[in-house]
Amino acid sequence: MDTQIPGKITSPFVMVIFGVTGDLTQRKLIPALFHLFQKKLLPERFYIVGFSRRPYTSEDFKEFLEQAIKKYHQHNFSESQWHEFIGKCYYQQGDFGEAQGYLDLIGKLKEFDDFLSSCVPRFFYLATPPDNYPEILKYLHSTKLSEGCLPASLRQALPAGGQGSDKWTKIMIEKPFGKDLDDATKLDEKLAQFFNEEQIYRIDHYLGKEAVQNILAFRFGNTIFDPVWNNRFIDHVQITIAENLGVETRGNFFEGVGTLRDMAQSHLLQLMTAITMREPQRLDAEGIRDARTASIKEIVCIEPAQVETRIVRGQYGKGNSYTSGKNEQLLSYRKERNVSPVSNTETFVALKLFTTDGLWDGVPFYLRTGKRLQRKATEIAVIFKEPKLKMLGKGEKEVVANTLTFQIEPTQGIELTLNAKKVGFERIFNQVPMNFTYRTPDGLPEAYEKLLVDVMRGDQTLFTRTDEVQASWKLISRISQRWQEEKDPGFPNYPAGSWGPKAAEELIQKDGRAWILQ
Ligand code: BG6
Repeated sequence: MDTQIPGKITSPFVMVIFGVTGDLTQRKLIPALFHLFQKKLLPERFYIVGFSRRPYTSEDFKEFLEQAIKKYHQHNFSESQWHEFIGKCYYQQGDFGEAQGYLDLIGKLKEFDDFLSSCVPRFFYLATPPDNYPEILKYLHSTKLSEGCLPASLRQALPAGGQGSDKWTKIMIEKPFGKDLDDATKLDEKLAQFFNEEQIYRIDHYLGKEAVQNILAFRFGNTIFDPVWNNRFIDHVQITIAENLGVETRGNFFEGVGTLRDMAQSHLLQLMTAITMREPQRLDAEGIRDARTASIKEIVCIEPAQVETRIVRGQYGKGNSYTSGKNEQLLSYRKERNVSPVSNTETFVALKLFTTDGLWDGVPFYLRTGKRLQRKATEIAVIFKEPKLKMLGKGEKEVVANTLTFQIEPTQGIELTLNAKKVGFERIFNQVPMNFTYRTPDGLPEAYEKLLVDVMRGDQTLFTRTDEVQASWKLISRISQRWQEEKDPGFPNYPAGSWGPKAAEELIQKDGRAWILQ
């Protein structure tokens, strides 16, 4: 299969990354931008400005980016291409909570406008912890950076920093979008004061994953699935996002957030929506976002009294990993860098959810995600009902329920297990897989590559809308509120390198089922 290359983007841009020294920029953003550059998918004229507190010189910054790219870039590295790319990267030192850095930034951005004799569109990327969003927005507004460039002809007449039309700016905001429903609502109100909805790109990178987009293509592009996509045929659905990594260098960020907000509010619920979403009425961005939002709104909120029986939280203790082939000792979460030794932040969560959509009445969705689990694997398994088989005799091997698995990480593909008769004289069944895996010479585009290209093109389909984010917070905030009331969650409660707390096994076992991914 061929990876489609989008039409060349020609309009120049400058991307200002707030929190440029953070994990996300090193691990995802810079590698994605560089790979797009290598694939010649960026316009000829673009600039990247990193904004952070660190007192870096321009040289220090370039050195910092080079270390990141050597560590995280997964494609052929070329010194000459890197040299060209890094020539377009600039650094702006500044404190998020002080005006000076923003005022200096205006001067820098004007240099680009002057050099190109035009208004260079500005993309502001908020890649900081969510606590910093309000102050960044405040200064983007008060310094008028949010208004974009002022055409040269008017610049003399108006005060410094004075900008112009909002059509020159876009803002990209990383999840988690706020901390709870209240906070997300306030953040949205603030955003709405300074930006139109068309300028706002709320990022959940799972929406940019090729294998996730393919779930919808697969469901709506093949009529054979539509008649069975309901509670008459489907028994239950399991969704797992397992990470073998721990919190790594992100203790500071993670302590104030936890897995429920970091992974469940966004990625897990989006994967559930990919299964439950109804076919969009229209195939434009708003049509697809309408369908996604409607589906999130249908997920049944958990009542406080149900939290104990339907939600499991966990935190990893010390343990062992065998993923690298040798036995590696793993630290407990409480011993990780920048983590409190008595932290009650969860690193694992499992949920049992239902939706009010009549098609799925009574079908449980079991969702789980955690850090320091046995291996990296993201999968959605749709388990069909047991076949009513009359043809088996006593002692003959039974058939099992069909399972349709969407594999998202580490391999990407789709697998359907079918029952088939074994060759021979006996009536014995076994299970055979039918599968599809992507075969592309350069691998699949990284989620962030896809999302960055969409921002440049102005396509908001894969970015969450305000009503969508609010609906997911409505569900998640109730759970976190309940947890706050319960002071001692009994952490740590699973060893690093395992599949999570025992209670997560029991959550599904008490319904007579078991996690498939082990
Ligand atoms: C991010 C979370 O959104 O997703 C991280 O903040 C997590 O904690 C990451 O590690 C997982 O993404 P992926 O694409 O590696 O599954």
